[in-house]
Amino acid sequence: MNREETKQLFDEQASEYDQKWVNMAAINDGIYFFLPSIFASLRPNARVLCVGAGTGKELLFLAKQFPSIHFSVVEPSGAMLEICRHRVERGGFTSRCTFHEGFLESFSDDNVHDAATCFLVSHFILDPIARSELFRQIACRMAPGGVLVSADLASDMRSPITDNLLRIWATTMSDSEAGEAAVKKLKHAYSNDVAVLSPDSVISIITNGGFESVTQFYQAGVVHAFFATTPSIVSN
Ligand SMILES: C[S@@+](CC[C@H](N)C(=O)[O-])C[C@H]1O[C@@H](n2cnc3c(N)ncnc32)[C@H](O)[C@@H]1O
Repeated sequence: MNREETKQLFDEQASEYDQKWVNMAAINDGIYFFLPSIFASLRPNARVLCVGAGTGKELLFLAKQFPSIHFSVVEPSGAMLEICRHRVERGGFTSRCTFHEGFLESFSDDNVHDAATCFLVSHFILDPIARSELFRQIACRMAPGGVLVSADLASDMRSPITDNLLRIWATTMSDSEAGEAAVKKLKHAYSNDVAVLSPDSVISIITNGGFESVTQFYQAGVVHAFFATTPSIVSN
């Protein structure tokens, strides 16, 4: 999927997005469970860059958890961002957010962020070099020693183990037992429409984007989550 197709997909899905994924909420909650520990060293008035914030799920969690941090909210889909803005307003923390409708390149490139999140975004970029470039764009907006948390669909699509995983994944998503055809269809989509790669390949992609110590801390089904840091001393 190219950028415009991805943006259009989320513009079209925005109004149903939260309802569509409601039965998978436990998976996101599992990632959020670790965020206070991963971000434990953030200063009280830290700045966090939320890339592909969607309707604002991780943003809401973090805003509640860290009551004085400021967020840069970057989201290319205007429809997703509109829902996010309303949720932020209802949550009463608009003054702590800077919203940017667009991709990261068109957002200020000051390296002022102490942390960043990028949840379920990078697998939409099929080309691994372009995918590393997304992480490079994040890294250059972060202070030295900043902490990134990123989550993506990941699995080695050539492994028979992945077929087992996709069977329970398809069943969980549809709420009824998935047959072979459903598993095959999902496998095709994950190999063509999005880039579902092995966790080691995702770690390499994040590393090539300029992050260090990329560490997988979570897996639920095909969702994998990683944390990483920017180098303490920036080299030019
Ligand atoms: C699957 S949603 C995830 C939203 C949110 N992070 C969550 O976990 O609920 C992916 C979001 O990333 C956005 N997105 C896709 N490609 C992007 C890119 N290259 N840069 C920034 N955001 C992107 C989409 O518009 C969409 O809102």
